[in-house]
Amino acid sequence: MARRHHIAVGDWASVARRLEELISARSAEDPVAVAVELVLLRLQQEAAGAGPPLPLAEQLQQANDRWPALMARPLLARLDPSLVQSCLDVLSPLRLRQAQGSALDAIFEGLTARRRRGEKGQFLTPRTVCTALVKLLDPQPGERVLDPACGLGGMLLATAAHRGKDAGPLLGADIDPAALRVARLGAVVAEIAGLDLEHRDSLAPGALEPHLNGPVDVILTNPPFAGEVVDAALCAAYPVTGGGRAERDALFLERCVGLLRPGGRLGIVLPHGRLVNDRDGPLRDWLLRQVQVLAVVGLPDETFQPHTSLRTALVVGRKRPLPLDPTEPLPDEAIAFCLSEKAGRDRGGRPIPRAGADPQAPAWLALDHDLNEVVDFIFDDLASVWRAHG
Ligand SMILES: C[S@@+](CC[C@H](N)C(=O)[O-])C[C@H]1O[C@@H](n2cnc3c(N)ncnc32)[C@H](O)[C@@H]1O
Repeated sequence: MARRHHIAVGDWASVARRLEELISARSAEDPVAVAVELVLLRLQQEAAGAGPPLPLAEQLQQANDRWPALMARPLLARLDPSLVQSCLDVLSPLRLRQAQGSALDAIFEGLTARRRRGEKGQFLTPRTVCTALVKLLDPQPGERVLDPACGLGGMLLATAAHRGKDAGPLLGADIDPAALRVARLGAVVAEIAGLDLEHRDSLAPGALEPHLNGPVDVILTNPPFAGEVVDAALCAAYPVTGGGRAERDALFLERCVGLLRPGGRLGIVLPHGRLVNDRDGPLRDWLLRQVQVLAVVGLPDETFQPHTSLRTALVVGRKRPLPLDPTEPLPDEAIAFCLSEKAGRDRGGRPIPRAGADPQAPAWLALDHDLNEVVDFIFDDLASVWRAHG
């Protein structure tokens, strides 16, 4: 039965729920795809300023002209105009550009998580985590940066924020076309050009290579966790991780190392178990021979709440110019181990604002998390390795 929601300004999650409720009750379209188009119309209205909005058909035409890749055959043109209007009314409190991504995250985190219910590890990566990983990897203008499981594009958008909006190739791929639409929308809202996204199964051998045109300089990713891959032909392409229980994050790790140039930098979110389980010893040994691991940052259990409490860690390293000989002992190299203790959200996934945070600031910038301190603590050591090896 339909419920009524009070929509407070800034309460983006309730906006998402109300939107989904309206769309699901009165259309058979995917709420994520419809919401992308609605947000574009809202963005257009925001730019037009006060005054009565144009008729819907004209708004759609204008949006089509401005963003042909996202509005070529608008779903909204097929929906009941009164439904579209109700949805636009729900979105009217949004100030998308002012919110610097907070509104988009809350709307699409809810919508995509519900759509992918039951799939493991498919959740939006909090902006705090993307930003910390980007700062640690420090992508430079002109470097080719890839996220092969880019989802809603968090890592790539954070890279653009870090090094400048037009500062080089941002390459992404995802198996879910709806996620890619949201990533493209994020780039429109943040006014970032040059996002080069492909709809691909990144694990399929050869699927990304033509798109990448050679090994990349930096990979930043939060791959899907768990969920075993049973396709024997695919597993055969992964000599290290494809045998036995071929879990997707492990396959992605092997894939990422393969896609990096020698000397390239890797920042990846992995399940904590991968770093400590006895049965993953051979995988760790392989990784340490391929990549000089420089830092491991344990993330708080609340990081991916309200979706999962799975413990995770950031792993940061540099691909070795040549892999180390598997018959030789591993070198004695320093790895910075850090533990983040504050995720900026509670066990229910509710945001915890920092004391004294500016109430007008975008929500994700006002969270009580400690990743900035972690970055400050280890970045100088990382940067000296990045600089030494170019
Ligand atoms: C943990 S999410 C990544 C979230 C992303 N960092 C973001 O902020 O939205 C994992 C992503 O991997 C994608 N994925 C799963 N299997 C894939 C595959 N074989 N190839 C490419 N993408 C895949 C999922 O669709 C999902 O978007």
